[in-house]
Amino acid sequence: MALPRPRLYVSRLLPEPVMARIRGAYALTHSPGDDPPTREALLAGVRWAEAVIVTLTERIDDEVLRAAPSLKIVANYAVGYNNIDVDAARQRGVVATNTPDVLTDATADLTWALLCAVARRVPEGHALVQSGGWTGWTPTQLLGAEIAGQTLGIIGMGRIGRAVAERARGFRMPVLYTSPRPMPSLSDPAWRRVELDELLRSADFVSLHVPLTPDTRHLVGRRELALMRPTAYLINTSRGPVLDEGALADALREGRPAGAALDVFEEEPKLHEGLRAVANVVTLPHLGSATLKTRVQMGLVCLANIEAVLAGRTAPNQVT
Ligand code: GLV
Ligand code: GLV
Repeated sequence: MALPRPRLYVSRLLPEPVMARIRGAYALTHSPGDDPPTREALLAGVRWAEAVIVTLTERIDDEVLRAAPSLKIVANYAVGYNNIDVDAARQRGVVATNTPDVLTDATADLTWALLCAVARRVPEGHALVQSGGWTGWTPTQLLGAEIAGQTLGIIGMGRIGRAVAERARGFRMPVLYTSPRPMPSLSDPAWRRVELDELLRSADFVSLHVPLTPDTRHLVGRRELALMRPTAYLINTSRGPVLDEGALADALREGRPAGAALDVFEEEPKLHEGLRAVANVVTLPHLGSATLKTRVQMGLVCLANIEAVLAGRTAPNQVT
């Protein structure tokens, strides 16, 4: 008789190539849908699972882990894992993993899409043409900010921050970055490590790339925004709570910084009132890793981690 398939809980429907792999090798504890599971559905879904794949909308805390006595691994379908209580998992002997590397390029690309969109007023221009109200080219229409040659500030020079910096070479932009430690391997002469305040004072574009931890919650708030240049732009593709949205709304009203482009929000999917229908704010619905290739690879990384742990091996992307 064939061995029973390992029981897997998947919180959300993943791209079909991943679902096909899952159906071929695992017994699903329930049939996932597009929407986030309710807390009750999550607690019920993990009940018999030996492994779970969850996303950033599911909070995995001690209550969930307690509800899943057979659980060996929580594979987070994301690089950021602030939704997982890693200490609680460790205490219960459950491995937690993430999906680094495979989403670095997609997220860095989207960061540049946002940077260009806010500086060159892409959404405003699109809306004007689509509205039928465009009356033709004028020398003064929708003037934006120059990008090439300006200074890029990267808060958090991890994999994604670095990939964003690498793309700045084509724009001939000097890069200032913050990082807890000097990184000797970052030897590009156009890249300079500085303190946060100096970066905020000097950069024309400030882009956030830190993970969300208790230390980085509201890392950029009222005080930090007030240091930015009135002509500067802020981009966030990391996690919403790294930025104090209320403070940003006030700062934008006061004209400093000049604009902001956000892919992530403090209380997704809610948008802070002060950031709604403001011309100098560009918003996207958390699309950082949203390419088909990347989302498939993220699923395969989750499955590789699960296979390893269920076979008694070390998970390649264990986060503890
Ligand atoms: C998405 O936000 C991720 O952390 O992968
Ligand atoms: C994530 O992979 C990061 O290091 O920024």
